[in-house]
Amino acid sequence: MRQNLVAGNWKMNLTYPEALALVGEIATLTSANPAGTDFPEVVICPPFPVLHGVGQALPQGGKFHLGAQNCHQKESGAFTGEVSAKLLASVGCEYVILGHSERRQYFREDDELLSQKLKAALAAGLKPIFCVGESLDTRESDETFDYIGKQLTDGLFHLSNEEFDQVTVAYEPIWAIGTGRTATSAQAQEVHAFIRERIARAYDAKTALDTTILYGGSANAQNARELFSQPDVDGGLIGGASLKAADFMAIIQSF
Ligand code: G3P
Repeated sequence: MRQNLVAGNWKMNLTYPEALALVGEIATLTSANPAGTDFPEVVICPPFPVLHGVGQALPQGGKFHLGAQNCHQKESGAFTGEVSAKLLASVGCEYVILGHSERRQYFREDDELLSQKLKAALAAGLKPIFCVGESLDTRESDETFDYIGKQLTDGLFHLSNEEFDQVTVAYEPIWAIGTGRTATSAQAQEVHAFIRERIARAYDAKTALDTTILYGGSANAQNARELFSQPDVDGGLIGGASLKAADFMAIIQSF
């Protein structure tokens, strides 16, 4: 179901004590500003070893959820160093980020592998946050829509209607990630509308309208309101600014 949602992707940052301190600050700020009716869903995605502890410390009451940053495609077995979707669900995860550009770039995750990871996540009852986004070269060559269209078709649209209903899509232009160069709200809206239109073509109009589509890439407390005001932008996938409690809370309250 389409909903306003803000996810914090902590990436490979913070120690365990630092992670607990951050979630403690978020909890304090949340109790000082109790959730109103328009408070979005919030997903916190810390690194694997701190998932359980952070999950226990999250503000209770339904709006805060735990998410992982990746999962393995198999349910269990001899895969040293890997973490299954089933294990993630067992420590309280409800969401998992898949297809982040850093995973695609540094760990060579391709659409075939991501398709398997999506299936594994869904089988374990996790809701995937599936990332797409173009490089600067692709944008400057005017190939953004072809590129993202292919990522959607090859990576995501093999899912059944029922499976796709569990998916949140995140548009993260690679040139905006961690660079301080945010997409303008018009650029974000243009791509989000394109993604929604492609979902309508692959599934149906209702599914497209019901899909939550997030923007990610140097989103912060200053630009979130403008980005979230766009008709097809339902929230954000936040990196750097999710590591500062006050900034993250300000983003959460930017709808
Ligand atoms: O997944 C979030 C992301 O890649 C954006 O990172 O630091 O630009 O907000 P950042």
